[in-house]
Amino acid sequence: MMSIDISNLKDGFLKEASQVKSTRELNKLKAKFLGKKGIVTEGLKGLSRLPKEERPAAGKALNELKRFIESEVKNLQKQLEAEEAKRKLSSESVDITLPGRFIPPGNLHPVTQVMEEIVDIFVTMGFGVEEGPEVELDYYNFEALNIPKDHPAREMQDTFYVNPPGTGGDTVRESDIVLRTHTSPVQIRGMKKRRPPLRFIAPGKVYRCDADVSHTPMFHQIEGLMVGEDITFSHLKGVLELFVHRLFGPGTPVRFRPSYFPFTEPSTEVDIGCILCGARGCRVCKGTGWLEVLGAGMVHPRVFEAVGYDTERYTGFAFGMGVERLTMLKYKIDDIRLFFENDLRFLRQF
Ligand code: DAH
Repeated sequence: MMSIDISNLKDGFLKEASQVKSTRELNKLKAKFLGKKGIVTEGLKGLSRLPKEERPAAGKALNELKRFIESEVKNLQKQLEAEEAKRKLSSESVDITLPGRFIPPGNLHPVTQVMEEIVDIFVTMGFGVEEGPEVELDYYNFEALNIPKDHPAREMQDTFYVNPPGTGGDTVRESDIVLRTHTSPVQIRGMKKRRPPLRFIAPGKVYRCDADVSHTPMFHQIEGLMVGEDITFSHLKGVLELFVHRLFGPGTPVRFRPSYFPFTEPSTEVDIGCILCGARGCRVCKGTGWLEVLGAGMVHPRVFEAVGYDTERYTGFAFGMGVERLTMLKYKIDDIRLFFENDLRFLRQF
């Protein structure tokens, strides 16, 4: 009796299995036979109701059927998955003639580019790179650089004070906190950190209150310092001339004009032949044929005293330059505000 039932069940399963077209249908079929209330499961449960002598054979047959169905289901599962993957692949056609999606390339800001170029020039001359804080103590920004209390550079209109509230911003004290107005305080910090001989540059952001057509409240400077025994003005000239020729081209005329800075003596301003008019005289060079590009000088003994260097033994030179200005000259840009508007039509040209 039981054996006929079993082969019927097997035939029934095989017939239904041959019509299965998806894994979902297969799962249903599996549940129909092997699920909690499936035909085979129920059959196994019903064994106890059979006459005792029939039980072993019926049990064996049902278990065999169960294993048969399990392995059939497994095979079918694999087959269906392969078919489904194939169908999916052929429905997902790829048009290899379509143009690729444009990924806009980013690039460095022109000021960053020129800053990196300048840093590279000095690094190849053996200068290290120093950094200092943008929020600076009055002592480093002014006092140690021999900028006296009544110096015009300290005036409220130029310096951003960041004193804690209630401490009064109207009196200038040594403990005052400022946004550095130049990168020169890094000279002091760098000299305090080490001993001569030394040479380093210090690139970074500086802040000044005066904002108009040609000034922005934040801009970039690169400071330079070289200290040792027997460092002379000739070293200053040689290093800065080489720098100008590397940045603007080997034929660029350079001249050193006497000037004044509290932290250098003697002081000089460096001009280059106007690159916009070929030194013939134009609006940018105000008809002079010359453009001022940096300030420099021999380190003032008072500055060495502030960092505890022997003024009899050591001499040195320092220089400072504005990166926006140099970038404007290099790329013939006539308005500093273009650097900060972030207009992509402008930025993409670099
Ligand atoms: N700190 C000066 C400024 O902000 C630039 C400068 C001039 C730096 C002469 C120097 C220097 O180191 O020697 O305008």
